[in-house]
Amino acid sequence: MRKHIIWHEGKVKKEDREKLLGQKGVVIWLTGLSGAGKSTIAHELEWRLLEMGKLAYVLDGDNIRHGLNSDLGFSPEDRKENIRRISEVAKLFADAGIITITAFISPYKEDRKRARSLLAEGEFIEVYVKCPLEVLIKRDPKGLYKKALAGEIKEFTGISAPYEEPEDPEIILETDKETVEESVEKILNYLKERGVI
Ligand code: ADX
Repeated sequence: MRKHIIWHEGKVKKEDREKLLGQKGVVIWLTGLSGAGKSTIAHELEWRLLEMGKLAYVLDGDNIRHGLNSDLGFSPEDRKENIRRISEVAKLFADAGIITITAFISPYKEDRKRARSLLAEGEFIEVYVKCPLEVLIKRDPKGLYKKALAGEIKEFTGISAPYEEPEDPEIILETDKETVEESVEKILNYLKERGVI
């Protein structure tokens, strides 16, 4: 019930916090298949930003599913709710002035579009962490693809559940062709060009 609840605008504005931190509060939304490198890139980027004196924070798939979203599984409805909650949390973090990096498969275009719609123009940076499925099946560090192919994990993204590729992401990283450092550099350059940092 939201009928009698009114959004309360604080005295301190996003712009004030951004001025304090010397950066823009944005959401860097990494999307891609499991094992493509989202978490690795997210944490390396967070570290590089910290070294530059910038405040970033990673919201990571596996971690959020232990806490906030521990009640959710991998059905289409649960993934939708997973991404909905994360989108709202990411929006709050960005409003706090933080460079918010999310690392979730987020397989559905519609859910990513909704996440984008919560933020102002230029504050949502979609990053497609791209890697061919064959490479992921070979890498398989968590052994999940093997299990999914054997039918032991149901509704596994890329095998038995869909992944809808981004049509017009701000950045594409091809993790079978570039190093983690190169991918992170691409994002940092983008942030500099747009005056985020
Ligand atoms: S999302 O689809 O809802 O965005 P999320 O990023 O939170 O997924 O979680 C993905 C992680 O959960 C994967 O990296 C993998 O470790 C694990 N996982 C467990 N079961 C599945 C599944 N059926 N499909 C995809 N990932 C799964």
